[in-house]
Amino acid sequence: MKRPVVVVAATSGIGRAIARRLGQDGTPLILAGRDGPAASRIASDCKARFSIEAEAVEVDMLHVEEITSFIEHIKKLAPNGIDGLITCQGAMPDQEDLLSNPEMLQDLVKLNFTSVVILFEAVARALSETGGGFLCAITSVAADRGRPRHHLYGSTKSALTTYLEGLRVRLHPRDIKVVNIKPGVVDTAMTWGLSNSAPMASPDRVAKDTLRAIDRNRPVAYSPAVFSLIMKIVRAIPDRLFNRLDF
Ligand SMILES: NC(=O)c1ccc[n+]([C@@H]2O[C@H](COP(=O)([O-])OP(=O)(O)OC[C@H]3O[C@@H](n4cnc5c(N)ncnc54)[C@H](OP(=O)(O)O)[C@@H]3O)[C@@H](O)[C@H]2O)c1
Repeated sequence: MKRPVVVVAATSGIGRAIARRLGQDGTPLILAGRDGPAASRIASDCKARFSIEAEAVEVDMLHVEEITSFIEHIKKLAPNGIDGLITCQGAMPDQEDLLSNPEMLQDLVKLNFTSVVILFEAVARALSETGGGFLCAITSVAADRGRPRHHLYGSTKSALTTYLEGLRVRLHPRDIKVVNIKPGVVDTAMTWGLSNSAPMASPDRVAKDTLRAIDRNRPVAYSPAVFSLIMKIVRAIPDRLFNRLDF
């Protein structure tokens, strides 16, 4: 029998799409969100549509004690262990607001970086007991170069990228996959109302690319894949020219 996969922030555009795709494949689910009733609705929907086991757990990733009890909760819900965990929590507040509000900036780092590290370290310890399984986080193309409009958000994602690189090496002997998904611009609540000239991917497209990357043990996957080339070009722009761009 398949072991469950945990999706954190399953109420997000991308997280919900990942949960649905996993459910469609018959994977039992543990769906977490800071909005408990919303996570429960998604779990009930997956159960009804796909005839799978799906549990919902409420967790606010800004609070360490909630992350700790969430990990204990997972152990109770999945006594035989989990197959893996995918984290989708994240925020991209307006950068001007972040620059004038240090508490908001601190919360951004906690949510986009620290909470993932705390969670991954605990789950990695549990997976290491048997070996195998996977950990997957959603970072962003914004991690690849500090563009003026979103470089605080991008910094949290590049910190996470560096953490995932090191973790991948640490967990290699235990055969645990560590996968980093780098979406471009995705049509979710995070991007509503933002002026943007690039075409947006659907959350389902990112979900499909995420599950394929885990399946094929790709350490890093851009979604859509064309962003691998786009970001190569962006990284290659000389500083003299890059400093004049406002994007
Ligand atoms: N959309 C894009 O263009 C894009 C591009 C690159 C990377 N990403 C990344 O993709 C991931 C998913 O984002 P999305 O696009 O699907 O946007 P989204 O719909 O706004 O999802 C953000 C998720 O984070 C959750 N969250 C926020 N604060 C939380 C907290 N304190 N504790 C637990 N969960 C919390 C939200 O919960 P609620 O549902 O309760 O608000 C929501 O489920 C994020 O890591 C984001 O940085 C997005």
